Amino acid sequence: MRILSGIQPSGILHVGNYFGMMKPSIELQDRGDAFYFIADYHSMTSLYDANLRREYTRQVAIDFLACGLDPKKAVLFKQSDVPEHVELSWILSSICPMGRLERCHSYKDKIAKGLSANHGLFAYPVLMAADILIYDADSVPVGRDQKQHVEVTRDLAIKFNQTYGETFRVPEPAFREGAEVIPGLDGQKMSKSYNNAVEIFGEEKPTRKRLMSIVMDSRSPDEAKPDAEENRAIQLIKHLTTPEIYSEEVEKLKAGGYGYGDLKKRLFELYWQYFRPARERRTDLMQNLDYVDQVLANGAEKAREIARSVNQRARKACGLE
Ligand code: ADP
Ligand code: TRP
Repeated sequence: MRILSGIQPSGILHVGNYFGMMKPSIELQDRGDAFYFIADYHSMTSLYDANLRREYTRQVAIDFLACGLDPKKAVLFKQSDVPEHVELSWILSSICPMGRLERCHSYKDKIAKGLSANHGLFAYPVLMAADILIYDADSVPVGRDQKQHVEVTRDLAIKFNQTYGETFRVPEPAFREGAEVIPGLDGQKMSKSYNNAVEIFGEEKPTRKRLMSIVMDSRSPDEAKPDAEENRAIQLIKHLTTPEIYSEEVEKLKAGGYGYGDLKKRLFELYWQYFRPARERRTDLMQNLDYVDQVLANGAEKAREIARSVNQRARKACGLE
């Protein structure tokens, strides 16, 4: 089974990225032939600072390795090291109906958030389809918000195959049960754009302060909270610990006598503990940037070999060769 996913280097990675995309991807590296890339071409639709793009690209590589991506098992690479993605994107563009893109929520959401309505942003799902189809991917682990893009990918693969003959494998999205949307500090979807995110590798003091600032209701500590499962801190705790500890925390809130301050302290503790091993690996990697660059260079070589051959298959099918 070929597994493929990507993540944009458009900011510091947060806990939502971790549970929605990185963790499931890393778990899958044992179950198939895994390819993960840093979507720097995609980041061009919203980030216009060249140095930041370079910095975030390297940070994403470091964070992935720190979180457990094993370059012996999975191929990690930078999208723009494989320019064939862009050629295939053009080929797919010419069979993609405008209406299919006009219906994509992600484009509309980004415009609503104030991003400029540039062509790259509009055509984004087509480049994403190329990213996936160019590796003959079977499975695409992403968060729920990317589901529609994987559906566009499937439609384009089917349409291309109907137009030019059987060429592309039709992929499936893969979601992690129960962890589809990680809520942020305000209860909305955690996102770098909503100022509600918790960084995976935030510094101790500011992160503690951030978690302690979660706004809750005005019920007194003594009051029983029958709706404990709805609590914002509890919803994060659910992902950061074992089911047993999660249930204990829920029961303590339900019983009453457990103040929100103590609950938030507990949340910080569990967060800090959860990412401790990754944090330690990350400190080592930061001292070893040549190693990180080498991982990306090796990854690009492996990825490019496949991308070249699938792209050539597409070029032949549609008469470019
Ligand atoms: P952001 O919303 O912070 O801009 P991205 O859109 O760059 O994050 O998402 C990168 C990856 O992380 C995608 O696969 C996305 O589905 C996943 N992801 C982002 N936020 C969350 C979240 N709150 N819960 C689950 N998955 C998420
Ligand atoms: N669009 C994805 C995101 O914003 C990133 C991405 C680009 C991707 N190409 C992909 C994910 C291909 C999976 C497969 O998170």
